[in-house]
Amino acid sequence: RYRKTIIAGNWKMNNTLSQMKAFAEQIKPIIPKGKWCNVVLCVPAVNITSAVRLFKDCHIAIGAETCHYEDHGAFTGEITAEMIKEAGAKYVIIGHSERRQYYNETDFTVNKKVHAAINAGLIPIVCVGESLEQRELGVTMELISYQVKCALANVPADKMRHVVIAYEPLWAIGTGKTATAEQAGEVCQAIRAVIRKLYGAHVARSVTIQYGGSMNAKNAAELLAQPDVDGGLIGGASLKPADFVEIINSAN
Ligand code: G3H
Repeated sequence: RYRKTIIAGNWKMNNTLSQMKAFAEQIKPIIPKGKWCNVVLCVPAVNITSAVRLFKDCHIAIGAETCHYEDHGAFTGEITAEMIKEAGAKYVIIGHSERRQYYNETDFTVNKKVHAAINAGLIPIVCVGESLEQRELGVTMELISYQVKCALANVPADKMRHVVIAYEPLWAIGTGKTATAEQAGEVCQAIRAVIRKLYGAHVARSVTIQYGGSMNAKNAAELLAQPDVDGGLIGGASLKPADFVEIINSAN
């Protein structure tokens, strides 16, 4: 295989420290020991340090759910990529649709955050996705291509091995309405084609592209069987240890 399969949970604003401890207790005995895929949990920033400690011995890497694009300054409430890195995280989600929708993230700030993450030595999980209206208008591919190009502007080819793209159609997030395997595969293939145009075939082959949006224990295997779907970004189902493990098991 040219690229890693990455199963990442996005806890969003869920799980307190004590709930996270309970989750760790439950997942440890059932998580597979073999490492055919990388497993990540993106947790609320305040719990990153504890998560790193709690999940170390079951080989789950930790990620943050966003970061600021500046490296310091008067931005009350924000945290930098370097702070996340020093807390022990390896990944950071950038440009999740909820951030774009509720916190004014734009393609421009997404690009700045991607650079901040890379500069700090974090792996950005860059989210792109179309709304239902955009899909119905038939502009999905143009939009996704535009989002990917903006997010990766001025990212050098040698850093692309450490960039993950997550395709998350907005209409599938938290709705229980999953994209079909064909829809997911088609868009992930188009994303790889955009990366190929920007960076060439070698880089395009090496980039992990995830699908996200109501992925669960039942539909994961079919989605992950698509040749260009290299993993998942999982919201709701990542809160349940048994479901999350079943998704990991689907990824071989
Ligand atoms: O980042 C994860 C996505 O927003 C998917 O969330 O699995 O709850 O639909 P969901």
